[in-house]
Amino acid sequence: MKNIVILISGGGSNMGAIVRCAQRDDWRKTRGAQVAAVISNRADAGGLALAREHQIATDVVDHKRFATREEFEAELAAVIDRHQPSLLVLAGFMRILTPGFVQRYQGRLLNIHPSLLPAFPGLHTHQRAIDAGCKFAGATVHQVTAELDHGPILDQAVVPVLPDDTAETLAARVLTQEHLIYPRAIAALLPRL
Ligand code: GRF
Repeated sequence: MKNIVILISGGGSNMGAIVRCAQRDDWRKTRGAQVAAVISNRADAGGLALAREHQIATDVVDHKRFATREEFEAELAAVIDRHQPSLLVLAGFMRILTPGFVQRYQGRLLNIHPSLLPAFPGLHTHQRAIDAGCKFAGATVHQVTAELDHGPILDQAVVPVLPDDTAETLAARVLTQEHLIYPRAIAALLPRL
């Protein structure tokens, strides 16, 4: 069985979309894969309850308990590796990862970013797209490499930027597309793992 481990920090709506797709399409039978665990760096992440509702194992590794990024990541990797993941999925996981951590999971580490990469890596993507006068925005699923929000692109979705959009209305429109492309990109990648 190919185990998928998902890292979250917040509401986990992308994680929820992946879990629902995995259950609806019965990835255990059809793709020999399952979401084995959801791990958060915050105990108050709303997505943890959502994962438990779907009978998925959860864990918390609170980054504030560690003096350095490396110590946090060593513990995080130990918890992740208990599930022997074929795929590690970042879904709104709000910690910057060191090159060492990325190297450990290279080739089986995915992220979703709320812009049409390579445009607007980093934070505040929606406001930046509006400020730049973009007519279209979107989201990107990509392999994670040591450089933040770079790495081979696996899937993208495009939405229009409307004249009266705020960062919030645009983010909501993009998020509905994230929920489609993240499960789709994972399903497409699974046979290659
Ligand atoms: C998404 O917009 C994702 O692209 C970004 O953080 C947000 C996470 O939302 N990296 P959720 O926790 O999946 O609801």
